[in-house]
Amino acid sequence: MTAPADWPAGWTIRPFAEGDQDAVVALWDACGLLVPWNDPAADIALALSRPSSTILVGTEDDRLVSSVMVGHDGHRGWFYYLAVDPACRGRGYGAAMVAAAERWLADAGMPKAQLLVRETNRRVMAFYERLGYAASPVTMMQKWLKTPSP
Ligand SMILES: CC(C)(COP(=O)(O)OP(=O)(O)OC[C@H]1O[C@@H](n2cnc3c(N)ncnc32)[C@H](O)[C@@H]1OP(=O)(O)O)[C@@H](O)C(=O)NCCC(=O)NCCS
Repeated sequence: MTAPADWPAGWTIRPFAEGDQDAVVALWDACGLLVPWNDPAADIALALSRPSSTILVGTEDDRLVSSVMVGHDGHRGWFYYLAVDPACRGRGYGAAMVAAAERWLADAGMPKAQLLVRETNRRVMAFYERLGYAASPVTMMQKWLKTPSP
């Protein structure tokens, strides 16, 4: 992927590559995105195993500093694990990752992008609102089809 001309020098977004896993999991840990019921290695493997999903990463001088997992279910597009290294926030990287995920979904023919915000992370909603997202009056219901690892 080519970076727009107004991005900082040395910053780029590309698909997840072999060898990125340790840096991505460390980034998710630093960003508070790891929870006991999600195995990050299994989540990465699953997202990369099908053409309907992928992981994009942002690098600064070859250092991995941001991520987003993006995919669709044939009806709507979703993204997960949006993360920017705490030392690199406020530079537009988060907005750039969302824009890259939106482009990926648009290219896949998806008319809408959706995401879930944990109740414990509601302050991130102001970031999404800044990017044109609005809260939706729906309740998510869920059921595990495979018991998560403890
Ligand atoms: C949310 C996150 C990705 C934002 O990354 P970032 O690189 O700092 O965001 P940007 O610099 O691209 O900010 C884009 C815009 O949102 C605003 N913004 C960023 N964080 C904000 C916040 N917490 N509250 C309000 N506005 C915010 C910025 O000021 C900027 O506005 P501008 O266009 O007027 O300048 C980052 O804080 C993060 O990784 N958080 C922890 C992980 C997380 O919660 N992920 C989302 C899970 S649902």
